[in-house]
Amino acid sequence: MSEGAAKKEERRKFQAIKGTRDILPPETALWNRVEQTAHEVFATFGFGEIRVPILQMTDLFARSIGAETDVVAKEMYTFVDEMQGLPDPANFAISPDDYVDAVQEAVKAGEIQVTNSNLRALAGLKSQLDMFHERGSNQSTEEAQLKFRIAASQIQFGDSISLEPEATASVCRAYIENNMQQLPQPVKLYCIGPMFRRERPQKGRYRQLYQIDAEVLGGTDAPAIDAEVIEMVMTFFERLGLEGVQLHINSIGDKNCRPKYVELLRAELRKVKDKLGPDSQRRIETNPQRVLDSKVKEEQAIIENLPRIGDHLCDECAENYKAVKRELDMRGVKYRENWRLVRGLDYYMRTTFEITAKGLGSQNAVCGGGRYDGLVELLGGPPTKGSGFAIGEDRLILSLLETGHSPLATRHSPLLYIAWMGEKAYTTAIRAAKNLRNAGFRVELPPVEQKFGKALGQADKLGARFALILGDNEVTSGQWTLKTLADGSQAKFTEPDLLEHLKKQL
Ligand code: HAM
Repeated sequence: MSEGAAKKEERRKFQAIKGTRDILPPETALWNRVEQTAHEVFATFGFGEIRVPILQMTDLFARSIGAETDVVAKEMYTFVDEMQGLPDPANFAISPDDYVDAVQEAVKAGEIQVTNSNLRALAGLKSQLDMFHERGSNQSTEEAQLKFRIAASQIQFGDSISLEPEATASVCRAYIENNMQQLPQPVKLYCIGPMFRRERPQKGRYRQLYQIDAEVLGGTDAPAIDAEVIEMVMTFFERLGLEGVQLHINSIGDKNCRPKYVELLRAELRKVKDKLGPDSQRRIETNPQRVLDSKVKEEQAIIENLPRIGDHLCDECAENYKAVKRELDMRGVKYRENWRLVRGLDYYMRTTFEITAKGLGSQNAVCGGGRYDGLVELLGGPPTKGSGFAIGEDRLILSLLETGHSPLATRHSPLLYIAWMGEKAYTTAIRAAKNLRNAGFRVELPPVEQKFGKALGQADKLGARFALILGDNEVTSGQWTLKTLADGSQAKFTEPDLLEHLKKQL
């Protein structure tokens, strides 16, 4: 590297990784308000907060969300959690024999997963070892070393882990691992946190996104559970003043009726294949229901004529869907039925729903959810019912901002700015700041002395309502000057009187 290039590299500016972003004050105040409201509203429905690790086994998601879904096949941040301690075969600080022994020990100790690919790689490594021995020496030639290293590199030293792309699978894993089936059922849990999906970033679509997720696990699969979960998210949105909220519901059937419907759909799609675009053509074979999701203009009329799941539900699913709608009506929850609603994750059955809101453009789903009986069992737990949703917090905030919910309304600007001058005044200012903050007031104490004019200008810029002026006179007399910045009026107070006065101002 040339000296110039090295200097440039040194001065390199770091940027947030594509699809991730900083969320700054005052917007964070709005995030806090949203999360606080979630804590409050969800608590009134009997939900408790759970915090799950962001790192989970890759297989957890492959098994639950589905290995063929976009989320798992294309969008996960996955890496091998390298085991520590096994020497690198590249530097041959260890003989090939010892190396193979160490690998076998690690397999026995469960430090290397016994997967088919690892077993194949181990066999390859052993055959390389045999080749060394056939030459009658453990002294390897460069070529043999290289082959050995290649064989060694095929072994996955550690678990494949992923940053979680959604929370349902992790919450189900936690339910099983913590024996929550022994608690009174159902168990109602919610969590708030970052998720990761390597999607193409655009407005409302990020690679680090935040979800507010709620799950009801265990007990009955009564339609009232689905309805109450939906009622809860609608109550939450209402409390926040979210505008243009539209609930779309559907039933996608269960393992008795859905496969037959999917085959019927596929057969019908094959008949009109030539009229469809390349994406839909491909999906006829891979996942025909995804064709219903198509936004391609020319395909809309064709899709409208396709068989609809509602006409092909088995009796139990049809009855269940009716009951869910009845339960929603009883709760005064307005919905729109949308037979084309297809969720992008494999674990759903029966009730599915999405909620859209204003100001979001093409990424307008602010919440998605549904029923997923069978998922806990699929993950190795007992047969367990499940129903829940996840809100895209980024989109929720975006919609609130776009419809005029200024974060400034919740902004934490100081109530009071302490304009102090002189050493004695500084000591008093520190004490005053401490007492006022303890009483719950937001106080800004400048760290260096400023002329009063400059201090008042600064107070103004920060949006403070009052400036407390502390100079030699005030300290000596015990009469502090409080200036109201909006009208410039001033009044004198003793310290206790000031506290009382400020309390009345709130
Ligand atoms: P999901 O539909 O994949 O469902 O995601 C739920 C919500 O997360 C979406 O409606 C959207 O608001 C938000 N979201 C998803 N991807 C992004 C992204 N890249 N950028 C910004 N926001 C995004 C689930 O995740 C299920 N686990 C929901 C669930 C819970 N079902 C049952 N329980």
